[in-house]
Amino acid sequence: MKFLALSGSARNLSTNTAMLRAVAVAADPDHEVRVFDRIADLPVFSPDLEGGPLPEAVRDFVAQIAGCDGLILASPEYVRAIPGGLKNAIDWLVSRDEIINKPIVLMHASHRGEDVLAQLRLVLATVSTRFCADLFLRFELMKNSPAEIESHLSQPANRRAIGDFIEDFAAFCRR
Ligand SMILES: Cc1cc2nc3c(=O)[nH]c(=O)nc-3n(C[C@H](O)[C@H](O)[C@H](O)COP(=O)(O)O)c2cc1C
Repeated sequence: MKFLALSGSARNLSTNTAMLRAVAVAADPDHEVRVFDRIADLPVFSPDLEGGPLPEAVRDFVAQIAGCDGLILASPEYVRAIPGGLKNAIDWLVSRDEIINKPIVLMHASHRGEDVLAQLRLVLATVSTRFCADLFLRFELMKNSPAEIESHLSQPANRRAIGDFIEDFAAFCRR
């Protein structure tokens, strides 16, 4: 299976992005997990921009969504909500076919952020018929560096948890 791991953080040292990179390492080699950490490249969405040729960054993003079997999304909470950059990325997909039946799951890199999780569950179930709320994997990684996260998530129990999560998601995607 090919998975796209979409980070809702544009921060260089993002815990969410580092967690998704660890997923790419821990997943069974049968699966490919590609991390997308470039939401900051996307211009601000406007329906006016959908009529003509799409901006290059949007074309690339849409192609990566189209080319994956499932989407794994992890995001920080900003001001009790979805960060603007991630909401903007989702807005680019809303009126397109690529997202409608795409399997989607959430991961989370913090012990906090219940509001962003609730909002993401609502938004993702709105844009896709195949958002799977039953599968969810969370690690408490807030304020850790990418190196600390890599080391923590490479521990056998955490690798197993990630591997099981990816297998469960792959089974959901195949259904
Ligand atoms: C502008 C801003 C607003 C934030 N608002 C919240 C918030 O409302 N609730 C919360 O729990 N954390 C909030 N945080 C903390 C981040 O959600 C938290 O540090 C997160 O783990 C960062 O994810 P990242 O490392 O992937 O960038 C905020 C951080 C920033 C920079």
